[in-house]
Amino acid sequence: MAKDSITLIDNRTGKSYEIAISYGIYPLDGAAIRASDLRQVKVSEDDFGLMSYDPAFMNTASCQSRITFIDGDKGILRYRGYPIEELAERSTYLETAYLVLYGELPTQAQLDKWVHDITYHTIIHENIKKFMDGFHYDAHPMGMLVSTVAALSTFYTDAKHIFDAESRKTQTYRLVGKMPTLAAFAYRHSLGRPYAYPDNDLSYTGNFLNMLFKMTEVKYKPDPILEKALDVLFILHADHEQNCGTNAMRCVGSSQADPYCAVAAAAAALYGPLHGGANEAVLRMLGEIGSKSKVPEFVKKVKAGEGKLMGFGHRVYKNYDPRAKIIKRIADEVFEVTGKNPLLDIAIELERIALEDEYFIKRKLYPNVDFYSGIIYQAMGFPVEMFPVLFAIPRTSGWIAQWEELLLDGEQKISRPRQVYLGEDTRTYIGIEQRETGKTGPTSPKRAA
Ligand code: SDX
Repeated sequence: MAKDSITLIDNRTGKSYEIAISYGIYPLDGAAIRASDLRQVKVSEDDFGLMSYDPAFMNTASCQSRITFIDGDKGILRYRGYPIEELAERSTYLETAYLVLYGELPTQAQLDKWVHDITYHTIIHENIKKFMDGFHYDAHPMGMLVSTVAALSTFYTDAKHIFDAESRKTQTYRLVGKMPTLAAFAYRHSLGRPYAYPDNDLSYTGNFLNMLFKMTEVKYKPDPILEKALDVLFILHADHEQNCGTNAMRCVGSSQADPYCAVAAAAAALYGPLHGGANEAVLRMLGEIGSKSKVPEFVKKVKAGEGKLMGFGHRVYKNYDPRAKIIKRIADEVFEVTGKNPLLDIAIELERIALEDEYFIKRKLYPNVDFYSGIIYQAMGFPVEMFPVLFAIPRTSGWIAQWEELLLDGEQKISRPRQVYLGEDTRTYIGIEQRETGKTGPTSPKRAA
């Protein structure tokens, strides 16, 4: 009879071990053994036992989660079971954030209270402006966001009560409510413009546009098409299971640090050009290509290993990122208002060539969420430096949901991976007069090209 287990034979000892297999809700997606079950595989009593070695966690599940499901081969993305396409079509960002955080779509009364609570937590302590003013005019807004969201931990010391559900709820209101304000203040600082304060009459994205672009008018009126487009883009970025930024959120959260410091760590990870910084890198790449006619030459360089096609490829999606499809549709709606971004033609030509080219097909490299989002953001008037900030704002709800799931998971404890040691064996200290000139310390392994 088939059993949910594997039998390992250790050829060093001839011993065999039966190791249980556990599953997610889909038997063919998420079957796993517990790595700790490998520790029984030993050659002697004083043997530490077998570990699994998995650099970059290419095949390691760090947690069990119920928040987001991705099927990379089929290009499926669902938040709490709801397909991203339906949420993008019918929901709003705040409603989706509620779903990601609390597991169910809210009733009207729950949504009204949620929107009210977020809206009335958008103002930041006036002292935060002093931090903003301390940055150079050309400081990268992502560096300003990471710094100031961490600084919020010094204003809300009750956030350390991480096992108090009411405290977590209050910090959730503050983080979801204040991230747009911090982002907008960073943007206004970079322009040398006065800060524009939140307007509680506006929607979440309408108010964000207000804080970014309000000038001398008494009341800012957001363009409804841009307001809606940004709301859908925020829905698409709300969560994405165990990506690099979320892993940082969970790792820092596992030490029981407060959620502001954990969000700062997650945002710092997101800043990298291989992650949320990719949309900024895409715009720079398209700008360097310069015209459709130069695309073949650029693709040739990428295939020769001279750089990456930014906005392409994904650790999980080995098919088209479903978010990229939706973003492409939004682009048309935005360009109706803003006028077409000339870089779009280069992007479409790049996609066309890449999707036909064996190099990219073999490596299953398709456009990801970052490929088209930057083109829209630029058309909406955002400088490229703001693009990762526009990723961090909506992802805050996903980070908090993942952090809370970690805290409430009885199996989780402080993250502390093992290692496989390849350094020097024991050595005796020698005085400086005896050291040979030119002999350096342990030679660190050279990084593969
Ligand atoms: C996000 O994880 C998430 O969910 C992230 C995210 C989220 O919502 O949180 O979806 C957001 O980060 C999207 C990804 C944005 N990053 C980029 O667009 C940067 C460009 N893409 C790559 O750097 C890369 O594709 C990654 C980082 C996204 C994924 O890298 P992997 O899974 O580690 O894959 P890999 O680097 O091992 O690549 C496999 C092969 C390699 O070629 P070979 O060595 O086998 O010859 O594909 C090549 C890579 O060189 N490759 C690329 C490429 N991406 C991978 N070659 C050219 N251009 C690329 N973009």
